[in-house]
Amino acid sequence: MTARLAVVTGGSRGIGFGIAMRLAADGWALLVTARDADRLAAARAELLAAGAAGVRTVTADLAADAGVQAIVDAAVEWTDRVDALVLSAGVGTAGPVATLPVARYDKTFAVDVRAPFLLLQGMLPQLRAAAAANPALGARVVALASITGVHAEPGLAAYGAAKAALISLLETFNAEESVGGVSATAISPGYVDTDMSAWTRGTVPQDAMIPVDDIAELAAGLLRLSARSVIPNVVVGRAGGDGRRA
Ligand SMILES: NC(=O)c1ccc[n+]([C@@H]2O[C@H](COP(=O)([O-])OP(=O)(O)OC[C@H]3O[C@@H](n4cnc5c(N)ncnc54)[C@H](OP(=O)(O)O)[C@@H]3O)[C@@H](O)[C@H]2O)c1
Repeated sequence: MTARLAVVTGGSRGIGFGIAMRLAADGWALLVTARDADRLAAARAELLAAGAAGVRTVTADLAADAGVQAIVDAAVEWTDRVDALVLSAGVGTAGPVATLPVARYDKTFAVDVRAPFLLLQGMLPQLRAAAAANPALGARVVALASITGVHAEPGLAAYGAAKAALISLLETFNAEESVGGVSATAISPGYVDTDMSAWTRGTVPQDAMIPVDDIAELAAGLLRLSARSVIPNVVVGRAGGDGRRA
């Protein structure tokens, strides 16, 4: 395959779909994953219409290790080189430390930290192969963290802790892998206008939220950079706030 290939988790809706659409317009081949098969099929059609070189889908729940393995297996079946791994699937969890049920803490860490860790491990041979085949560009991981992983926010302890862990994981990944041309970048935004942030529209108006297209543009830009630039984290605040709040 001559087109660059990206695996995009959470690529059926929201930020992941926005990034996938942006990459489709640039002619990437895409392996897109989520749980809802119908929405994935609709996304596949839209991505092909937008110019993707090829689109495959995997229906998989990232809360379970078997879901992670299904994604790795599908990638291995398709190609021996993965140029980009976009980790967008995630769950949000609101609640104070005092009362947050530990089951929600566990689910958040399973999807937002454990699954990315396992996907980094599982995809590493193909990311390394892509970097070896294209040393100038290398291969890059782009993972959606959150501004709450950088600046603590009341009521978002489990979510913020999970995203802080994700940011740290990517920093270590860079220390270990970037010499070989594989690097990772966290994107850490405040509220982005998607389904996930719908619950807060009463306090943060939709037109004050970050547009999905801005995050997609950032991701596409990161994937055009040379392997010589390692960017650990891009924090994106909202206009009019204090620059630290979600
Ligand atoms: N929206 C925001 O305000 C905001 C701000 C900062 C960071 N982020 C981060 O950005 C990422 C994307 O958020 P978003 O706003 O695009 O969310 P979204 O609109 O809710 O979309 C989430 C995507 O992930 C998939 N997904 C959710 N749970 C999954 C699971 N257990 N296994 C596999 N796939 C799953 C969803 O598809 P299915 O439901 O079909 O599985 C969907 O494709 C997340 O990591 C989030 O934490 C979001």
